[in-house]
Amino acid sequence: MTRSFANIIGDWDILADVRIRQIKSGKDLSYSHFLIPNIISLVSYSDRIIDIGCGVGAGTASLSKSGLDVIGIDPSEKSIELARKNFPNSTYMLSSAENYIPNHKFDAAILNMVLTNICDLEEFLSSVKQLIIQSGRVIISICHPVFWPVYKNLTVVNGYNYSEVKYFDLPFTVTNDLEPTTQTSLYIHRPIEEYVRCFKATGFEIDFISEPMPDRELEKKYVTTWKFPRFMFIQLSLST
Ligand SMILES: C[S@@+](CC[C@H](N)C(=O)[O-])C[C@H]1O[C@@H](n2cnc3c(N)ncnc32)[C@H](O)[C@@H]1O
Repeated sequence: MTRSFANIIGDWDILADVRIRQIKSGKDLSYSHFLIPNIISLVSYSDRIIDIGCGVGAGTASLSKSGLDVIGIDPSEKSIELARKNFPNSTYMLSSAENYIPNHKFDAAILNMVLTNICDLEEFLSSVKQLIIQSGRVIISICHPVFWPVYKNLTVVNGYNYSEVKYFDLPFTVTNDLEPTTQTSLYIHRPIEEYVRCFKATGFEIDFISEPMPDRELEKKYVTTWKFPRFMFIQLSLST
């Protein structure tokens, strides 16, 4: 069951304050200590980068603080407003990937936890393709399609079947948060083969997939142990 773009972005407008609180309080361990460092390890210092679906901009700000040339774009007005307010040294634009008209193409596009929010993956990836140079890369993080449903107990939900695309509205909670929100956002479950089909159909090839686990020090900070990877990283390049 698909969702309207306005509904999806409306949820992010409401969640923007929550995301700033979660990230700035340090409660979103995975975001600050796992997702962002892993993304930073995959970009090169000479890259011109676009962070697509940058949300409240913390990731974009971490990249620019590391000396990278990056712009963040997001269609959520409230998220971009908070990004500009909280991280004034970075550059943000209010736009979807589909509507963004850049001054130049980019060496790398980052999609950090964005794809599970996108209903028409082929249309979205085709727009991303227009934003990168021929030798450019797309660096993706997603909730691990196999293990996230197990971790979030979604496999017991009526109608869940790993092999089928399914839409969930899930509260955006993070580990160790004492004031968990009930506000939901869209989580679209897709099997890995559906991601691979969409990448190929839109002219991308997969450079690699990685399924990292936290190191021992980080793992100790979580209330539950990681028995499996919670996230998956994928790098794409354009097919020749
Ligand atoms: C889970 S949040 C990830 C936020 C951010 N990448 C981060 O690291 O905090 C997904 C984001 O994707 C954005 N988004 C949804 N559809 C989009 C589109 N078509 N183009 C660009 N961004 C989109 C939403 O507004 C939301 O901010």
